[in-house]
Amino acid sequence: MSEAMTLRSAGPLMTQELLTVENLSLEVQGPHGNVTLIDDVSFSVGAGEVVGLVGESGSGKTVTSLSVMQLLPHNSQLSGSVRLDGKELTTMSRRELGKVRGVELSMIFQEPRRSLNPAFTVGDQIAESVRQHQGASRKEAWARAVDLMDLVEIDDPSQRAHQYPHELSGGMCQRVMIAMALACDPKMLIADEPTTALDATVQKQVLELILRIQEASGIGVLLITHDLGVVAEVCDRAIVMYAGRIVESGPVLDLFDNPQHPYTAGLIHSMPDVVRHEKKMGAIPGVVPQPDQFISACRFAARCPYAAPECLDGFVPLQPTPRGGQVRCIRSGTLDLSEAFYD
Ligand SMILES: Nc1ncnc2c1ncn2[C@@H]1O[C@H](COP(=O)(O)OP(=O)(O)O)[C@@H](O)[C@H]1O
Ligand SMILES: [Mg+2]
Repeated sequence: MSEAMTLRSAGPLMTQELLTVENLSLEVQGPHGNVTLIDDVSFSVGAGEVVGLVGESGSGKTVTSLSVMQLLPHNSQLSGSVRLDGKELTTMSRRELGKVRGVELSMIFQEPRRSLNPAFTVGDQIAESVRQHQGASRKEAWARAVDLMDLVEIDDPSQRAHQYPHELSGGMCQRVMIAMALACDPKMLIADEPTTALDATVQKQVLELILRIQEASGIGVLLITHDLGVVAEVCDRAIVMYAGRIVESGPVLDLFDNPQHPYTAGLIHSMPDVVRHEKKMGAIPGVVPQPDQFISACRFAARCPYAAPECLDGFVPLQPTPRGGQVRCIRSGTLDLSEAFYD
């Protein structure tokens, strides 16, 4: 088990379901016909739960989060169901969605600086989020903005509120983005690689902040990252995604101790700070396929050291694992994945 696992003890493993995603698929029109970017994705996040969505770059994590938010590309077709607190989002009108997005369901993005408007002070931008959804007066909204900046632990918030994004560090800008996401007391927060653009020390501070807020408010968090170290530190459960499909999911402790899918094991063994120092570390050779190359059979087989001919025989369903997770591998249970298998 990673020694990084200090930020969070084992949290509630199943609470009241807040976000429920069922059989979500997104198809887009490509130059050579339609391609399916994400394929039959199902998961849930409970109130007070932090769920990680992890996979290498290009696995479909951002497409999944944008699909959950109903922020869809042109000429795309979404199927499946997304429910927030029992309300179906996929059939809502734009107007109805406006009352959910940024209010009950908030999202923060990877590049804080690009998401902020350089022409307005950060106080004005947070106050605007407050006003948009809560109809507060200018003065009330400003006061709430300063309170929110205090909540996200920005020093001297009443002064800082008058500053512009370029006057703040990347970590401060991400705190401002978190303050904006929290402006309306959301029930659910989706954070898409919120710390990837930050250096390691600031990354840890921002993660700790998200956790403290989550624990204090009991919101559900879907934390998207390519970094399994982040998952180990902050998540209760994790979903591992590869080439547009979920390949494994389960409680984080089990996932690390006893991964069931060779891809999960490969990600664990390529973590730089893993305890197994005696093995040579390295990224999994090869790359995630592009959506127009997706096959029905196992999409990881081309990179999998355990692949057998039957892995390419046909569709591989997700199966329950002995410890309450799910795995999509016909060889799962027959493999010893405890040792690094790349050198
Ligand atoms: N609108 C789109 N049209 C076509 N392909 C897309 C579109 N959006 C994303 N993709 C492709 O879908 C795959 C998954 O992308 P993404 O969700 O951004 O991955 P991740 O966030 O896991 O790095 C990538 O191959 C990407 O190029
Ligand atoms: Mg992404």
